Amino acid sequence: MAIQRDSTGEGLMTQARPSTCDLSVSLTSRDSFLVDVRDGLLRDRKELPCKYFYDEEGSNLFDRICELDEYYPTRIELSILRNHADEMADEVGEDVDLIELGSGSSIKTRLLLASLQSPRSYIPVDISGEHLERSAEALARRFPSLLVLPLTADFTAPLTLPETGDPCARRVVYFPGSTIGNFSPDAACALLREIATTVGPGGGLLIGFDVAKDESILLPAYNDRRGVTAAFNLNLLVRINRELDADFDLDSFDHKAIYNREQQRVEMHLISRRAQVVRISDFEASFVEGETIHTECSYKYPIEHFSRLTADSGFSVVRRWSDARGFFSVQYLTVDG
Ligand code: AVJ
Repeated sequence: MAIQRDSTGEGLMTQARPSTCDLSVSLTSRDSFLVDVRDGLLRDRKELPCKYFYDEEGSNLFDRICELDEYYPTRIELSILRNHADEMADEVGEDVDLIELGSGSSIKTRLLLASLQSPRSYIPVDISGEHLERSAEALARRFPSLLVLPLTADFTAPLTLPETGDPCARRVVYFPGSTIGNFSPDAACALLREIATTVGPGGGLLIGFDVAKDESILLPAYNDRRGVTAAFNLNLLVRINRELDADFDLDSFDHKAIYNREQQRVEMHLISRRAQVVRISDFEASFVEGETIHTECSYKYPIEHFSRLTADSGFSVVRRWSDARGFFSVQYLTVDG
């Protein structure tokens, strides 16, 4: 991700502009989806980027996951917010431009915004356009004096933030939901560095992540009894069938979640139940029986590991909040300057 101020001329550009040989600048979103799917499915170990889960249906399924008994992170993060939103607001301070990455339905943000002192603007960034527009509209109705500037974008790629009227306003990035867990530790560090550059010295980051814990709690959260997570995982194939003219047979893939102990991450896979060949647009992918497509990593961090990660990215911890069992952590960090 690179975030820059647009057209003010004094903006931050945290990453060199894509060069002309960078394909991503000229490709449409369908083209880049196809490039990523082809690239992922033609590997020895097949994988697909988890950001593609979030089409309209996927975003709705994710909202249902958040309500499952087994999926504890959302409920616990919300309870931490309910208990400590005022303290968080004190740390975040007044008159900020609040930028949220992967905002989804912005449910947590309502709690935060209700406590913040005269926030200048709220810029929710999400890859799922319609979902984003709908939740931004609802949020603007709930907070009529707030400038809400939704941005449909993939925050793992260069971003241009809208102007909010005051180029000197303090910026705080809100990154809840343990979305950081979808990145490998190296990629997470790089993303956090980009965020640090974007908010600048004195700027802040309010981030929530899922703390490492026993598999007996982790695994059911990704293998719920009602099969909502399975539907969420399989919806990626539904989306590929629809958008990339493919012929995945949905009945011949199974959802599977495992805990990878060495890497401290939950992995989601789609397992081919039989040997088969699937056509996707203009290419074919062949599967042996039992072969997997790795569709998601969800890293879980012990608090100390996370502190190392944020320190390596140029942040200092100002304050941490957690629940009684220490299942989830919300932290306010500022950029060393
Ligand atoms: C939104 C990335 C935090 O990893 O727990 C939920 C996504 N995947 N169930 C997670 C997800 C399967 C979720 N994050």
